[in-house]
Amino acid sequence: MQHIHRPKKDSKLSTEPLIHESSHIINSYAGEWTSIGPYNKIIESKIGDYTYTMDDVTVNYSEIGKFTNIASHVCINPVQHPMDRVTQHHMTYRRIDYGFAETDDEDVFNWRRSNRVMIGHDVWIGHGAIIMKGVTIGTGAVVGSGSVVAKDVEPYQIVVGVPAKPIRARFPQNTVEKLLKIAWWDWPRKVLEERFYELNHIESFIEKYGE
Ligand SMILES: CC(C)(COP(=O)(O)OP(=O)(O)OC[C@H]1O[C@@H](n2cnc3c(N)ncnc32)[C@H](O)[C@@H]1OP(=O)(O)O)[C@@H](O)C(=O)NCCC(=O)NCCS
Repeated sequence: MQHIHRPKKDSKLSTEPLIHESSHIINSYAGEWTSIGPYNKIIESKIGDYTYTMDDVTVNYSEIGKFTNIASHVCINPVQHPMDRVTQHHMTYRRIDYGFAETDDEDVFNWRRSNRVMIGHDVWIGHGAIIMKGVTIGTGAVVGSGSVVAKDVEPYQIVVGVPAKPIRARFPQNTVEKLLKIAWWDWPRKVLEERFYELNHIESFIEKYGE
């Protein structure tokens, strides 16, 4: 995984992360074949191999697995303000910017850091979805467009709505267990190339690689 901070000039996917020049990235890492679309804001997060984001995506304090698909206008971990202070205004912790002190209130930032969102492999997050603090989304899950996910999502579940609730699973439980065991997302690139077309057929795939 590479430390990502500055835009890469060419526009082709490669083993180096491809980051649109309009995106703002702070202290984050991304793997091979990753792509960060236009006008993204990514703070202190890790993005696994092959995962991509479309435009206007926000990712704060999160870990995202491999082969995950993040649509436009998704927000992962919108940060919380301290509600128990006299004021919720960010001047109480962004003290430097407002000239109130020479240090910021790191406790607030550490509290945000402690509420990481964890997203598995091969997840599809639909247009405009919001994933709230501390949530874990299992591998293979789907989040419908416009959903607000406030609770954990089991692997291979499809969730929709506000708040997001499961509507069904992508596959029967037996297949899900086999997929999680096969863990094709961890196959080396060469193996993936050899077996690439087999990814299109779930029954024969499970029959061949599931024990
Ligand atoms: C979640 C999703 C994958 C479900 O697709 P599907 O299995 O074909 O689901 P259906 O269209 O049959 O809908 C099933 C039920 O969920 C509801 N539903 C579907 N998507 C919904 C959503 N995003 N929010 C709220 N409800 C939704 C439907 O109204 C239907 O409800 P009903 O059973 O009460 O009639 C799809 O609706 C979706 O949101 N896709 C994301 C598209 C997107 O954002 N793409 C961005 C480009 S990557």
